[in-house]
Amino acid sequence: MGQPITRYEAVQKVTGAKIYADDLPVPGRAAYGWMVTSTIARGRITGIDDAAARAVPGVQLIMTHENRPPLSPLATFAGGGLAITSVAPLAGPEIHHDGQPIALIVADSFEAAREASFKLAVTYAASTATATFGDPGATERNVADINPMFEPIRHNDAAAALAGSAHTVTAEYRTPIQHHNPIELFSTTAYWDGGTLVLHEPNQFVWGLKHAAAEQLGIDPDNVRVKSPFVGGAFGSKAAVTHRTALAALAARQLGRPVKLVASRDQGFTHSGHRQETRQAVRLGCDAQGRLTGYEHKQWEFTARSTPYQNGGLEKTAAMYAFQAVHTDNYIVQGDRNVPTFMRSPAEMPTVYALEAAMNELAAAAGIDPVEFRKRNDTRIDPVAGVPYTSRSLNECLDAAAERFGWSRRNPAPRSMRDGEWLIGWGCAMAMYPTLMMPSTARLTVRRGGTATIEVAAHDVGTGCYTIATQAAAERLGIAPGRITVRMGDSRLPPGPIAGGSVTTASLTSAIVDACNRMAETLGVDNATDPAAFAAAIAGMDRPEAEVVGAWFPAGMDQSSVEALYEGGVRISGGTTADRAMYAFGAEMVEVRINERTREIRVPRVVGAFAAGRIMNTRTAHSQYLGGLIWGIGSALHEATEIDHKRARYVNDNIAEYLVPVNADIADIDIIMVPEVDNQINALGVKGIGELANVGTPAAITDAIWHATGIRVRDLPVRIEDLL
Ligand code: MOS
Repeated sequence: MGQPITRYEAVQKVTGAKIYADDLPVPGRAAYGWMVTSTIARGRITGIDDAAARAVPGVQLIMTHENRPPLSPLATFAGGGLAITSVAPLAGPEIHHDGQPIALIVADSFEAAREASFKLAVTYAASTATATFGDPGATERNVADINPMFEPIRHNDAAAALAGSAHTVTAEYRTPIQHHNPIELFSTTAYWDGGTLVLHEPNQFVWGLKHAAAEQLGIDPDNVRVKSPFVGGAFGSKAAVTHRTALAALAARQLGRPVKLVASRDQGFTHSGHRQETRQAVRLGCDAQGRLTGYEHKQWEFTARSTPYQNGGLEKTAAMYAFQAVHTDNYIVQGDRNVPTFMRSPAEMPTVYALEAAMNELAAAAGIDPVEFRKRNDTRIDPVAGVPYTSRSLNECLDAAAERFGWSRRNPAPRSMRDGEWLIGWGCAMAMYPTLMMPSTARLTVRRGGTATIEVAAHDVGTGCYTIATQAAAERLGIAPGRITVRMGDSRLPPGPIAGGSVTTASLTSAIVDACNRMAETLGVDNATDPAAFAAAIAGMDRPEAEVVGAWFPAGMDQSSVEALYEGGVRISGGTTADRAMYAFGAEMVEVRINERTREIRVPRVVGAFAAGRIMNTRTAHSQYLGGLIWGIGSALHEATEIDHKRARYVNDNIAEYLVPVNADIADIDIIMVPEVDNQINALGVKGIGELANVGTPAAITDAIWHATGIRVRDLPVRIEDLL
């Protein structure tokens, strides 16, 4: 474990072998679907004339709300389910958002379906739509009134603590709409094999999709099979059940042949959610010695009128430092938009941005170095819950990053560093992500010849979890990783965790350890932690192979959580629980250079130091951290979906105008993995890292921009015009 072995699927990837869901073969000749989507954001369909569309050669089916076969309702995330929205596919004439699917056209070719879509004549009665914060018709609700999960925090008297502070910062920060834009589009291929529905769909939770599809279509879950062997990028956008799954399944049943349905790049912007725009109002204070006093944080998240989606997250920022008093409130604001969903560090990216930006502003107000300021306010317990951290290496990360970066050479005065016409600024921030875990199973088969197989319906969303599964088993079994076969992403396999909340490595490796323990019992291995003894027992087996199914669940759960997993249920635990606080930490330091005349913003140098328990594979971990830091640079300087306030439509719904960092935007990124041992969290002491590194980066960059220019920009992303 920990070795930088190369990816399990490396050869397949670099040779272009077909390994993604849409590449899987289907029986017979597939038909191709196209979703026709609403061109208004709010109102009603008054008529659909499909005569011209039906006349296009090759068109087989046009499904609208007028002829859609029945579907059962599905619960959304807020209701404990997996549906992206409470509005069912082709439910009726009501329009809830721009881009809502209003018809499915299926034809012998993609081109015919597309041509017919242009000939479908739809008329609407449109109403005035609300696009975002501040637009007429936006309705605000306190989340505490609708979801007890997001109870406000009232820990001591924050207002009094702030009133008695030597220094305070009061500021509002804003984060924009962001879209995941995975390279692999949102596709579903559906066919019926007798009474069994087979779905090829890139997905972050195949057991969840299996049960949801069965419920929606009114069939036995045993008669649904979902295949998603590899996922070409998800970042949260392939966790929910979207409209296209049921539409493809219904069409395939009606036509008696496989149906392939894909949301185009622009449809992807309204098909499967986004990171919702937020407003973050923070008041933070400290005493004359730089010790934190009161912390007030109000968050507003924008969501759909139909579905009160929210992320919350302030209970996690409230755990970060030794605050004396904390007061938080969460609000949602609703308008005529598609429903948001999880996006890489859903709650942490906006809320930690606000906290860390305020920490930097307060450090400057108090005249204390921002690294020293954070160390002075370190805590060993979650100050609100009063429970201890199982491990917390933020100070070690700050020290490691500072040394590598050369932080001690920073002149604290803004506009004090330059190189010719380039203003130089240095900034820092803390990164964190809660250690979240979910129950998992894993089937282990060993063979006398010295090979093994691990089978579990976990998901590789590009992170390397096939590779890590071989490593977790290899070290116990005494079998080389290259002799271990892994099968994942198929709902016929025993269930694994959702590939969300960065739970996979911690949960899956724990189940593999349990399977190894059971195998040791089965084979009568004397010293089960000695790989040589294990390998000898396998070689000396009295039968050609042996099979066990391991299962694991996080502390605080019981066997019923595994049963829930078999029902497609998502039970996640972690962060601050009843008796402990479990988080991974990092420290990020950045240099920005801003051209004095053009105000062009460059990021020539980033150092990130991270401590996240045991690292299973330093090569794949490095890639996760690297991707996260680049994602963080994108959040600070590039990414934003623009909205047309009048029509409540996304404007830059393509990857030409939705900016993400390109190679020319990224220069030197230096990643340090700070060793950390945590024996309390799970079998191998693993914390999730996929959503760690992009947290904090924007606050480090905005502080560096302030340090370079003296200008505080609080709305992301920072643009040239903010610095004029
Ligand atoms: Mo990840 S945003 O938790 O799928």
